Amino acid sequence: MKKIIDLIKQEITSAFVACEFDEKYGMVSLSNRPDLCQYQCNGALAAAKEYKKAPIMIANDVVAKLENNEMFKEIIAVMPGFINIKISENYLASYINDMASGENFGFEKAENPKTIVIDYGGPNVAKPLHVGHLRSAVIGESVKRISRYVGHNVIGDVHLGDWGLQMGLIITELKKRQPELVYFDESFDGEYPEEAPFTITELEEIYPFANAYSKEHPEFKEEAKNATFELQNGRKGYVALWNHILNVSVTDLKKNYDKLNVSFDLWKKESDAQGYIPDMVKYLKEGGYARISEGALVVDVKEETDTKEIPPCMILKSDGATLYNTTDLATIVERAELFNPDAITYVVDKRQELYFEQVFRCAKKTNLIGEHVKLTFLGFGTMNGKDGKPFKTRDGGVMRLENLISDITTAVYDKIMSNREISEEEAKAIANKVGIAAIKYGDLSNQAAKDYVFDVDRFTSFEGDTGPYILYTIVRIKSILNKYKEVTGVDTIAVSEILPATCESETALMLELTKFGDTITAAFAENAPHRVCQYIYDLSNAFNKFYHENKIIANEDEKVRTSWIQLITLTCNILNTCIELLGIEAPDRM
Ligand code: ARG
Repeated sequence: MKKIIDLIKQEITSAFVACEFDEKYGMVSLSNRPDLCQYQCNGALAAAKEYKKAPIMIANDVVAKLENNEMFKEIIAVMPGFINIKISENYLASYINDMASGENFGFEKAENPKTIVIDYGGPNVAKPLHVGHLRSAVIGESVKRISRYVGHNVIGDVHLGDWGLQMGLIITELKKRQPELVYFDESFDGEYPEEAPFTITELEEIYPFANAYSKEHPEFKEEAKNATFELQNGRKGYVALWNHILNVSVTDLKKNYDKLNVSFDLWKKESDAQGYIPDMVKYLKEGGYARISEGALVVDVKEETDTKEIPPCMILKSDGATLYNTTDLATIVERAELFNPDAITYVVDKRQELYFEQVFRCAKKTNLIGEHVKLTFLGFGTMNGKDGKPFKTRDGGVMRLENLISDITTAVYDKIMSNREISEEEAKAIANKVGIAAIKYGDLSNQAAKDYVFDVDRFTSFEGDTGPYILYTIVRIKSILNKYKEVTGVDTIAVSEILPATCESETALMLELTKFGDTITAAFAENAPHRVCQYIYDLSNAFNKFYHENKIIANEDEKVRTSWIQLITLTCNILNTCIELLGIEAPDRM
């Protein structure tokens, strides 16, 4: 379906043309004075210069052409030359009915679906998920869902960090603790045990310990580096251990992501790209793209127009070791080969922005990836505590994601239990859904690049711009619909029509509903889930105002009643679709 604002624009434009003004003056926008009108056109002011005519005269001419147009309830020219527009209730209702009966509420999917890889999550093996990983997962998941809704072929890749020194540290520490394990026996050539020699809990203790220990003990660190090197060169026992570390870690990660309603199409790892490195290095050297600088292999990526210093992209260290860069470039090569994507979007902490700028430039400049492939860095800000500093536990440690989730679900649980009679079990199930919504909405409602303050009280409030408020609105509508079903025995009423609005709050609700398509288009174009949040907050407010001003089920006029039931069903469906795009689910009651 065409956007309502574009339909209005069409009419206004033809009126400008009919008055012999250029069509470009027929622009229409949402009104910035909703008390006066719903839409406005300021084209007459712009046209005045070209036609050397007072803007109000131009506006008057245009309006005269539209006086009997059925689309408008009111269209007037006001000083100094604005055109104020209200659309007719009939027109609005017919648009809403088309939305209700159309697929995807009339939203038209992309005509040329693109293949988009989204790189998000980015957890590191054997390190517990912390709040820093939360944002990537939450934002990436939503961007993926929005892009998919628009009709694109989207591949979400977790891009697991499994190739760094952390592996060597764990292996070395294990060796110190349990030297008798077969993995360390170089002459062993049987089958390694199927079961890992540690649990996730042990693993999560081992890594931080080894990491801290290595800082104090250089010889241990040396040994860990060596182990990493041996692992990367295929030492059997280490590879077997690494597989155990990977499996134990991934099982745990999946459990955590599941709780967050986050899932990945691909569980690719940094190590998967390693096989692409030798050829890539050869290509960069032979193509004359790379040069040696102080023993290291680098590619220059600075450009004349740069206002800040962009250092060269390092491909190999002087000792021949590869870097994070090398892996990311090789992953680009791998993705190009496997998926032939039109775009790759990275959802990563914004502190890595310069780094990605180097990587992108390097990939483009050296033609590792085609000119047409759009590489986007979607950087997010830091989640801070109430003190404005990066979020920490009460005793100053790194906050684990699990604890964060349980803090918030407990807060919601207490609220639910204190408010009504409900079984503990049900309250828990509800608190889980509402808690996740509180976290995700609290995150997604901010522009991704901004830092934000994680505030349990505010996020879990049932009022204001919060996840729980949105869910509460959905639950409220569902309960009206259930009650209606109970009272009338009527379940499906899809045959009846939504009638023209009879009061202002109803018109306002309908106008909000019409903005669904624009919202999705903008959220996709800008990779901006916060657009969806803004929209459902406005829509929820519009619904609640309408609800407070009108008795829906108790309305005497049966026609109005069924029309309203249809209208709020549409509202509920749109809200549900939107929260799904955010990766949030609504409970049946709250
Ligand atoms: N594992 C990295 C980290 O924890 C994030 C990975 C981001 N994605 C990428 N392709 N580099 O910082």
